[in-house]
Amino acid sequence: MKILGIETSCDETGICIIETTGKEASDFSIKILGNQLYSQIALHAQYGGVFPMMAKREHAKNLVPLFEKCLEEANLKKDSDQNNLTEEKTEKIKNILVYEQGLFEDFINLAKKIERPEIDAIAVTNGPGLEPALWVGVCFAKALGEAWNIPIIPTNHMEGHIVVGALILQTEPKVYKLKPVSFPAISLLVSGGHTQLVLSKENQKYEIIGNTKDDAIGEAFDKVARILGLPYPGGPQISKLAEKDRTEFPDKKTSYPLPRPMIHSKDLNFSFSGIKTAVLYTVQKIENITDAIKQEIAREFEDAVIEVIIKKTQKAVETYGAKTIIIGGGVSANKKIRNDFAVLANTLGIELMIPEFSTSTDNAFMIALAGFLNINSGKQPETEFKAKGNLSLQ
Ligand code: KG4
Ligand code: ZN
Repeated sequence: MKILGIETSCDETGICIIETTGKEASDFSIKILGNQLYSQIALHAQYGGVFPMMAKREHAKNLVPLFEKCLEEANLKKDSDQNNLTEEKTEKIKNILVYEQGLFEDFINLAKKIERPEIDAIAVTNGPGLEPALWVGVCFAKALGEAWNIPIIPTNHMEGHIVVGALILQTEPKVYKLKPVSFPAISLLVSGGHTQLVLSKENQKYEIIGNTKDDAIGEAFDKVARILGLPYPGGPQISKLAEKDRTEFPDKKTSYPLPRPMIHSKDLNFSFSGIKTAVLYTVQKIENITDAIKQEIAREFEDAVIEVIIKKTQKAVETYGAKTIIIGGGVSANKKIRNDFAVLANTLGIELMIPEFSTSTDNAFMIALAGFLNINSGKQPETEFKAKGNLSLQ
């Protein structure tokens, strides 16, 4: 079957079409037919962070052009010399996109001149994320569904981050296969909005067993970067500086020690707002902050937060007798996280699943994949669903 994935939860507009074959997980083959991603990072970087209304406007502007490009890439765009949209349909779509005049016009202009694309289902992110941004994607999906009678599966963004961890790219033919997950599995979700430990005893079932009490880890990376005067998004910047410091001074003891928040707490929760404040106080005390000092602080910060997530994940694995660790979310692109978790999994003698770099940060492929897996496990399409900024996995 062919599934269209739509992602607009934050500052990436993603459209992806996958084709899947196979009856059960062990013989699924997943092929990317088209994958388009437009990052708004350059725009938001000027302001040091993401403004939800600005993100929403950019999604609205880019969804139809990206969708058209994706259809072309997938070879699914067939021009039609007659308008296939009835007036009644057009009216319904107008109602769906009532707050998105520009998007409505772009969409109708495209839909009028092409045939119904061969897409069997639409998976759209309906949360968690920035609510105005989510709504544009959801309304766009509903307009597509209405125009061409395509069923829609509302999809949890965090589930997308989890499921891409199991992908293995096969070269001949170039398709993805899914590594079977040994349960119980512990997923550690680390992104700009989340830091969660999630227990799964079977596919597509999630129980949240740990959560951040304040900031998410990615948010802490971004805020610390800002304190150090580095551009948005800060995660990759901090990581680069930290790595440089480790290479230049492998055995150096830090002059700027930071706390390891909640590392010894009995629960599986996290807290990252205190460490950001600790960095702020540290920086305020330094008269002349040089690049050398910045990289030393970046390294200590990265060491501190990674030590915490390693410790808590290990605790979760031991508590639940987990056989697999899955890491997901944008922060999983971090090199030290990838290395340290590989060591942890090796020491514990369990499997580690971590997405390729290209699927670590937000994209629509992960949404299409999560949608497919949910369809396969019996989830029914919906029409009346909403976008929910705080949608839970559970
Ligand atoms: O999952 P994601 O793309 O968007 C959300 O759903 O939030 O995650 C974005 C977060 C940002 O906070 C960004 O700074 C962080 O992921 N990030 C990183 C790295 N690459 C992205 N953090 C640390 N190291 C990285 N290499
Ligand atoms: Zn994300």
